[in-house]
Amino acid sequence: MQAPKNIMVKVADASEATQEIKTISLASSDGAPLPEYTPGAHIDVVIGGGETRSYSLMPIARKTEYKLGVLLEANSTGGSKFMHGLNIGDQISIEPPKNDFPLHESASFSLLFAGGIGITPIMAMAAELQNTGAKFALHYAGRSRASLAFVDDLQARINDKLHMHYDDEASALDISGVLGAAPGQTHIYVCGPKGMIEAVQKQAVDCGYPKEQIHFELFATLSAQTGDTEFEIELSSSGKILSVGVGQTIIEVLEAAGEDPIYDCSRGDCGICQTGVISGEIDHRDVVLSAAEKSAGDVMQICVSRSKGGKLVLDL
Ligand code: FES
Repeated sequence: MQAPKNIMVKVADASEATQEIKTISLASSDGAPLPEYTPGAHIDVVIGGGETRSYSLMPIARKTEYKLGVLLEANSTGGSKFMHGLNIGDQISIEPPKNDFPLHESASFSLLFAGGIGITPIMAMAAELQNTGAKFALHYAGRSRASLAFVDDLQARINDKLHMHYDDEASALDISGVLGAAPGQTHIYVCGPKGMIEAVQKQAVDCGYPKEQIHFELFATLSAQTGDTEFEIELSSSGKILSVGVGQTIIEVLEAAGEDPIYDCSRGDCGICQTGVISGEIDHRDVVLSAAEKSAGDVMQICVSRSKGGKLVLDL
């Protein structure tokens, strides 16, 4: 992939939103406006060693700043630790905003679901829908009141359109009830953990929503899972055999071998890296493919998915 031109920014603010979530504002180093973005967009932050991590852009009035909400992940692979270690005045490099999760503003009604830190892109969408007078509702769910950030800000912005759900209180999110009560032609947006996305996807399909009206973004970084093992991939065009170690992705291995795989989100939610599989048993870890597509076993998202054991022969 051709790398976009990076921008140097400085940390203008870094403050605690909850015990585990920090709000970080980034300002242009020279006071000039930063590139514009649309609701649902994210930036990639360079965290060192050539690695980047994606963070969604929250609503902000100033054109010279970006605002991020960053959860300190218990099994951080570097990104959230780096972000939580930033101090006011630090300079960092970012890539310009990209949007893989855009709003469809012509929809007659928008139903927004956010789980935990997945609120950040959803909040930008809610602010836009409110500003344009569009009809929408936002369902924001989490473990407890203390775990959810930006609730006061949301209440001030959208008040009666905000519905809070706490797992530890009698207000847990009833996804099928919310979907069933929505008007026809509703577009659905969900950002949160994998389980929440899969539940909303499945129940929306069960309620008869076409795929084109269901939009999602996974809020998680890839991390090794207990029981992961090394496996081999074979590239069918060349017969080249490569080994994918524990903690490595197929994309990383391909790039290290001089191949040029196409990818974007690196977390299994955009579908860009989808690759044909000629043989082998796939351990699907994405949220792009339907249950039927996963069981067909002839394509995989090589940014996150692995082998269940033996060699995978890829259509590459
Ligand atoms: S790069 Fe987005 S699904 Fe793999």
